[in-house]
Amino acid sequence: MDIGENGAEFVVVANRLPVDLERLPDGTERWKHSPGGLVSALEPFLRSHSGAWVGWPGVADAEVAPFEDDGLLLHPVELSSKEVEDYYEGFSNGTLWPLYHDVVAQPAFHRHWWNTYVKVNQRFADATAKVAAQGATVWIQDYQLQLVPAMLREQRPDLKIGFFLHIPFPPVELFMQLPWRTEIIRGLLGADLVGFHRPGGAQNFLWLARRLVGLEPSRGTVGVRTRPGVVQVGDRTVRVGAFPISIDSAGLDAVARRKDTQARAKQIRADLGNPKRILLGVDRLDYTKGIDVRIRALYELIADGRVDPEDVAMIQLATPSRERVDHYKTMRQDIEQSVGRINGEFGRVGKPVVHYLHQSVNREELVAFMSAADVMVVTPVRDGMNLVCKEYVACRYDLGGALVLSEFAGAAAELTSAFLVNPHDLDGVKNALQAALDIDPAEGRRRMRALRRQVLTHDVDRWARSFLEALGTQTSV
Ligand code: ADP
Ligand code: F6P
Repeated sequence: MDIGENGAEFVVVANRLPVDLERLPDGTERWKHSPGGLVSALEPFLRSHSGAWVGWPGVADAEVAPFEDDGLLLHPVELSSKEVEDYYEGFSNGTLWPLYHDVVAQPAFHRHWWNTYVKVNQRFADATAKVAAQGATVWIQDYQLQLVPAMLREQRPDLKIGFFLHIPFPPVELFMQLPWRTEIIRGLLGADLVGFHRPGGAQNFLWLARRLVGLEPSRGTVGVRTRPGVVQVGDRTVRVGAFPISIDSAGLDAVARRKDTQARAKQIRADLGNPKRILLGVDRLDYTKGIDVRIRALYELIADGRVDPEDVAMIQLATPSRERVDHYKTMRQDIEQSVGRINGEFGRVGKPVVHYLHQSVNREELVAFMSAADVMVVTPVRDGMNLVCKEYVACRYDLGGALVLSEFAGAAAELTSAFLVNPHDLDGVKNALQAALDIDPAEGRRRMRALRRQVLTHDVDRWARSFLEALGTQTSV
């Protein structure tokens, strides 16, 4: 794959660029790593293959010319502050995000949000049409850009177009609430290959193509990376498959093995007062992540006398996310209140129970935290995949540590040797946390060995290759 003189042979299109423009209070600007799983997964793959990336630079009204960043050609798409409000915060994160995550928060349906979503999707399609070389492969990402496949095909029928959804595709009963449901399905059908994390998402999509667009999709069961569904759209064949995303497992394993990482992990443990057990949560601060569930479970375990607060320290790293969206404001208040409550009741000076950082940390620091943690707690009420749990496993080359993982994360289908929990069943979460805290070391090693076998053999490179091969694209550099 290469950036040809007449455009790029391989183009990723995502709401965000892999780097975000940050405006500092003194008026200066700098680029920083973008948040979220999409960038964590795609960036290492794309940097090793070269190509172009079309996306928003993360702030409103930023007119930035295309630029090269470490071999990647970045093409910024400008959004006005009103568009950020209606397309990104509104339709993407106030309508689609909660709707696709099982309506765990109430989605809002506003026509002016939808209109802006259409307009902005068209802008991404136009920008991509200019960047892609004749016959290029274009890989469109995620729920913010579901209309782009059809819009792009309209202008550039020569392109090979793939689409991948990074979040869950909802049960059809929930999807049917969307006033613009048919437009979304038609938008996605513009791709040659539509990919989901799990076969269930692919099956739901095929059902909707029949029900809403009147097509005749195949009826066989979709497999994982195999047996994609097929639907004929005019003279085109659209394939619909399941491709569970993953991480740069070997890269994280290598960072974890470094002496400086292990020294930093030791330092973190010492800074916490060398507790017997460290629990860790790492998430974007999002209401789907179940951060409240794990704090509540720990609170009750201590209140019940099943866990001694002197023995444990919990670290919760929470990346600031979508801070102007109402659901996020409310959730932040609730979580910060519950941190205050557990520390107020069970902490003492110099020894809080929960160390809460509303901050992002860099990759080395993240690996050090994961290396230090005895129990990684991942309790989303719904998550397309969840990369954090896979990252933890990749860091534990020592076979130490234990993973508590929600059944409602896509990753649960692969990480079956974790302590799997239903985050709605608080007693179940408490029991799993206690079992993970008290795990016999031999049993812990057995589980971690099985988890690592999965994560190290199914990395992000395999994910991208399996998708691109199904799309019929040559994946060699
Ligand atoms: P999502 O895409 O919904 O944010 P994922 O679990 O799939 O969820 O991916 C989140 C990514 O962001 C992971 O790579 C994780 O390590 C990273 N991340 C989350 N919180 C932090 C944090 N506080 N500091 C650094 N990285 C973080
Ligand atoms: O993977 C889900 C996702 O929404 C990505 O599309 C997105 O880049 C990431 O999480 C972070 O969210 P945001 O871009 O809204 O900060």
